Amino acid sequence: MKTLNEMKLTIESRSVNEGFARGAVALFSSQLDPTVEEITEIKTAVSEAVTNCIVHAYKQTIGLIYINAKIFDDNSIRIKIRDKGCGIDNIKRAMEPSFTTDPASERAGLGFAIMSAFTDNIKVYSSPGKGTSVLLCKKIKSKGQKICRQPETSKETS
Ligand SMILES: Nc1ncnc2c1ncn2[C@@H]1O[C@H](COP(=O)(O)OP(=O)(O)OP(=O)(O)O)[C@@H](O)[C@H]1O
Ligand SMILES: [Mg+2]
Repeated sequence: MKTLNEMKLTIESRSVNEGFARGAVALFSSQLDPTVEEITEIKTAVSEAVTNCIVHAYKQTIGLIYINAKIFDDNSIRIKIRDKGCGIDNIKRAMEPSFTTDPASERAGLGFAIMSAFTDNIKVYSSPGKGTSVLLCKKIKSKGQKICRQPETSKETS
């Protein structure tokens, strides 16, 4: 598979940057001509991964989040979201739906389940104390429908 394009973005783990990261990846992926639904899925998956870096990896501190997105010649995108935070000691358990280490803050423990549902493949690598990488792969299947409105015909009668 050939890489056609690549972007890298480093942000501080501040909540205000979550929307920026989500929007930047969505804009980058738009060159694959995705449908509105596919764009929404990408945005949601990125939002979950970045939020995890903010609220879990760098819980009491501000650290850096490294985002890398690659577009391949099979019309797919691979998004890597990496932090150098606390890490995950049991990845399998962390990825189980409804598992959360933070029930007090009303977290549903559904972030990884949402990332899995909205992408074709998810891989998680982590070392406790060193950080976590989440790889999200998604193939853009259908060509997006361009929003093209017909000019309204005048209803006035003369
Ligand atoms: N980047 C990360 N660094 C450290 N721990 C993480 C990271 N991402 C996830 N985790 C751990 O994995 C658990 C499950 O994550 P998941 O996103 O599925 O649920 P959640 O964040 O707890 O809840 P929700 O996403 O529904 O708000 C988290 O509770 C946390 O312990
Ligand atoms: Mg989460």
